[in-house]
Amino acid sequence: MCGIVGYVGPRAALDVVVEGLRRLEYRGYDSAGVAVVSQGRQFLTKKAGKIANLDKALAESSLPRTGLGLGHTRWATHGAPNDVNAHPHLSANGRVALVHNGIVENYARLREELAREGITCVSETDTEVVAQLLGLQVEAGVPLDQAMRAVCVRLQGAFTLVATDSENPDVVVAARRNSPLVVGVGDGENFVASDVAAFIEYTREAIELGQDQVVQITRDGVEVTTFDGLPADVRGYHVDWDLSAAEKGGYDWFMRKEIFEQPKAVADTLLGRHDADGKLTLDELRISDAELRTIDKIVIIACGTACYAGLVAKYAIEHWTRIPCEVELASEFRYRDPIVGPTTLVVAISQSGETADTLMALRHAREQRARVLAICNTNGSTIPRESDAVIYTHAGPEVGVASTKGFLTQLVACYLLGLYLAQVRGTKFDDEIRATMRELESMPAAISDVLSDIDTVMQLAADFVDAPSVLFLGRHVGYPVALEGALKLKELAYIHAEGFAAGELKHGPIALIEDQLPVFVVIPPQGRDMLHDKVVSNLQEVRARGARTIVLAEVDDDEVTPYADVMIRLPKVSTLLQPLVAIIPLQIFACELASRKGHDVDQPRNLAKSVTVE
Ligand code: G6P
Repeated sequence: MCGIVGYVGPRAALDVVVEGLRRLEYRGYDSAGVAVVSQGRQFLTKKAGKIANLDKALAESSLPRTGLGLGHTRWATHGAPNDVNAHPHLSANGRVALVHNGIVENYARLREELAREGITCVSETDTEVVAQLLGLQVEAGVPLDQAMRAVCVRLQGAFTLVATDSENPDVVVAARRNSPLVVGVGDGENFVASDVAAFIEYTREAIELGQDQVVQITRDGVEVTTFDGLPADVRGYHVDWDLSAAEKGGYDWFMRKEIFEQPKAVADTLLGRHDADGKLTLDELRISDAELRTIDKIVIIACGTACYAGLVAKYAIEHWTRIPCEVELASEFRYRDPIVGPTTLVVAISQSGETADTLMALRHAREQRARVLAICNTNGSTIPRESDAVIYTHAGPEVGVASTKGFLTQLVACYLLGLYLAQVRGTKFDDEIRATMRELESMPAAISDVLSDIDTVMQLAADFVDAPSVLFLGRHVGYPVALEGALKLKELAYIHAEGFAAGELKHGPIALIEDQLPVFVVIPPQGRDMLHDKVVSNLQEVRARGARTIVLAEVDDDEVTPYADVMIRLPKVSTLLQPLVAIIPLQIFACELASRKGHDVDQPRNLAKSVTVE
């Protein structure tokens, strides 16, 4: 939710910042802007719309070549996405340029206070008040870092702020509370950004900033302090992926590239998880086995796709561990006074590690003294930092706004957690755990099989490009797959799509079935006969009412053939792991259909990848 970049060094700041914004555009794309400092002045260009619009404006404005600048790509919260509300915002005296990610909740009061001092804000944003307050401070002779600390303590809400002062052309100052910020440490140059992708081309050395910290970067220095001005402890880390991972690599969309990266993402997430004897060793798990044995309830909190990964996890975790497991939308969790305590394990699933709803739910859980474990793809992000333990997924950077490899690797991490709990608590024999691990380790090959045979689903996307509505049905772990398939289609193709539990259909949604309505049905593997047969009955029910059925079933499942208008074959895997292969055709269907509709698959309208507001 909003991407921000700041740079100081020998390169042309404008180029570094705009390139950085391009890699952060997944965070918001309502408007974009940059400001560079030269000869004691701020030079600023900003434009509503995507970065392409900013590019055009920059081509006409010829900003000076200088080594100090900042930029922003916006997902609007306060104020419409127009040129005036676009960031950066300037202080009235023209000295301070500021970009912001988050929401300043007390901005209205601060705005009134500024008005009393004769300063009128020109935009409708919550951000501008901060630029004005900083402007007053530097005008009074306060250095920018000190000014930032003084202003931050007056702000309520969530913010990452990056500012420059035209009279101090060697310094970028940034601050964070509840929104992400990383420092990129270069050689004779330094960077600040919402995400390492913005500077990965120049350095893979990063420093994560803690809560309520301010950082000042110069060409040769990085100085981190608390809001009180005390030196802060910081942790540096090496980013284990490079520029090529953050680029499209010949694909038309990041999403398509990420779909095809899934075999590797799953394999990488499974790497190094057991010793030579097959014993699971989750070394990022900082909760002792003794503590894990006391857990009597698991609550999974997450949003969007991550929540559907959690729904799958419930089936596996309860089956393997016999611990009751609830799954809850993070945005609902803390508002219903949930029953959690010291013997509850709260599992927060988040690809980005920054989703505000999930973070706030996690904090509520910690206040209730629950143990919190994060499943996350982003090293150094806030959710794992605030958790007692973390299982990192190793999907590499996910840029497409609609999650794909993030989802699959979240599933893998959930399976690992379930098996680990089963091992610690003795609810599964070691050889059973080893067998499931072996099957998990064979999944990259199974996923590759699905990816090598996509002609049918590509043709389906062409056939259904004008479909007004599509339904998805599944039962057991196929139900979350149906929900995720529908979500992908809504997000990308903007057409009405619903996922239903196949058995629930007859209790209402079956009224939606009409002639030629496309209905995807996920058929469970044949091993669990009752489950399989029940879904086959549901399939017949919709077909009898005129639906066009697209059936996802095991390679040798001949029983379903008579009821399928279109068959999509899946490799033979066990029931609990089937989501890892069953979701792939649905991802491809949504990606291809949206592409054919001419939509921007990587940046669907109204969405952002990392939603850092509640
Ligand atoms: C946003 C994205 C979704 C994503 C959800 C959770 O809404 O558009 O694709 O599933 O956030 O994101 P997280 O980073 O917490 O997994």
